[in-house]
Amino acid sequence: MLLRFFNQGYRIWAFAVILLFVVIGTFIQFKFVKLEESRNALEATVARLQLANNLLVAERGTNGNEKNVDDDTIVIYNRVPKTASTSFVNVAYDLCKRNGFNVLHLNVTGNLHVMPIPDQARFVYNVTHWNAKKPGLYHGHVAFIDFDKFGSSQRPIYLNLLRKPLDRLVSYYYFLRFGDNYRPHLIRRKHGDKMTFDECVKRKQSDCDPVNMWLQIPFLCGHMPECWEPGNQWALDQAKHNLASRYLLVGVTEQLQEFISVLEATLPTFFRGAVKHFQSSKKSHLRKTNLKREPSNETVAEIMKSKVWKMETELYEYALDQFEYVKKKMGSNRCSN
Ligand SMILES: *[C@@H]1O[C@H](CO)[C@@H](O)[C@H](O)[C@H]1NC(C)=O
Ligand SMILES: *[C@@H]1O[C@H](CO)[C@@H](O)[C@H](O)[C@H]1NC(C)=O
Ligand SMILES: *[C@@H]1O[C@H](CO)[C@@H](O)[C@H](O)[C@H]1NC(C)=O
Repeated sequence: MLLRFFNQGYRIWAFAVILLFVVIGTFIQFKFVKLEESRNALEATVARLQLANNLLVAERGTNGNEKNVDDDTIVIYNRVPKTASTSFVNVAYDLCKRNGFNVLHLNVTGNLHVMPIPDQARFVYNVTHWNAKKPGLYHGHVAFIDFDKFGSSQRPIYLNLLRKPLDRLVSYYYFLRFGDNYRPHLIRRKHGDKMTFDECVKRKQSDCDPVNMWLQIPFLCGHMPECWEPGNQWALDQAKHNLASRYLLVGVTEQLQEFISVLEATLPTFFRGAVKHFQSSKKSHLRKTNLKREPSNETVAEIMKSKVWKMETELYEYALDQFEYVKKKMGSNRCSN
């Protein structure tokens, strides 16, 4: 009886021990599976974090301040004298280091504003092949140069600023006599001549001849001889044609900040941060002709009779209309209030 119990007891014990092993075994296996799962989850998280980090680095790369090695854009600003061109070019000089582009001055011999055709060819070749200076902004007092004519595969982006023709002429007239705040000690061509613009018009002298206003049309028209013939209708049409099809943007001096604002949105490689910079340094940038007097109503009426004034004003208003349209389409009157 006792033995039987033992026998039976032994079997129960053996069964219990085996059951225990099975339970423990299953438990350990279960734990391993759990561990494996959490390891996989951890690995996935790490991978996600690494990816996010890589994206962050890539983004910083494109927003960074290093030279834009992949950008070979060429911008040409063929500036017209006395249109606030110095103020605008100084903004470019201030930003070029930060934004990683080059600013190059194109020194046209004499004050001719046109280049002989071999010089144009050399210029086109040099500008398009000089990779060390890309991206680059060129500025100079030179008429529009048509890169297509020279078989160039790269077209530059053209920019310009126009000013009300009579304002520009009056500004130039006093600039030659009294200089400006930019280089106050430089003696100008007509230094010492105290004649006002009104007197000049009354005496019909050459410095205030309306023919002198024939400048913005030829700058946009280009190097054809007709471009430089005061009153030539083809020149006006060609200037409008180039403005519409060959210039990225033509602004007006009276809205310099708006011009810079559109450029910042359109060409960020060059003009990122330009508006903020211009606003904070406006005083030092604006170049003012000394002792400038507003012309009398009589003088204005006299000038307005001339064909050159009418044609130059037509181009100016054409440019202004285009510029207003560009601004409207951008929905930005942000800087006009
Ligand atoms: C441009 O060239 C003329 C003559 O070649 C020279 O006298 C003048 O100093 C130059 N101007 C600049 C800003 O380099
Ligand atoms: C362009 O002209 C400059 C100055 O004359 C010169 O230093 C440069 O090497 C030229 N670049 C090319 C590609 O011809
Ligand atoms: C000139 O004309 C404007 C309007 O065209 C007028 O407001 C202004 O008073 C005039 N100035 C003089 C000095 O007559």
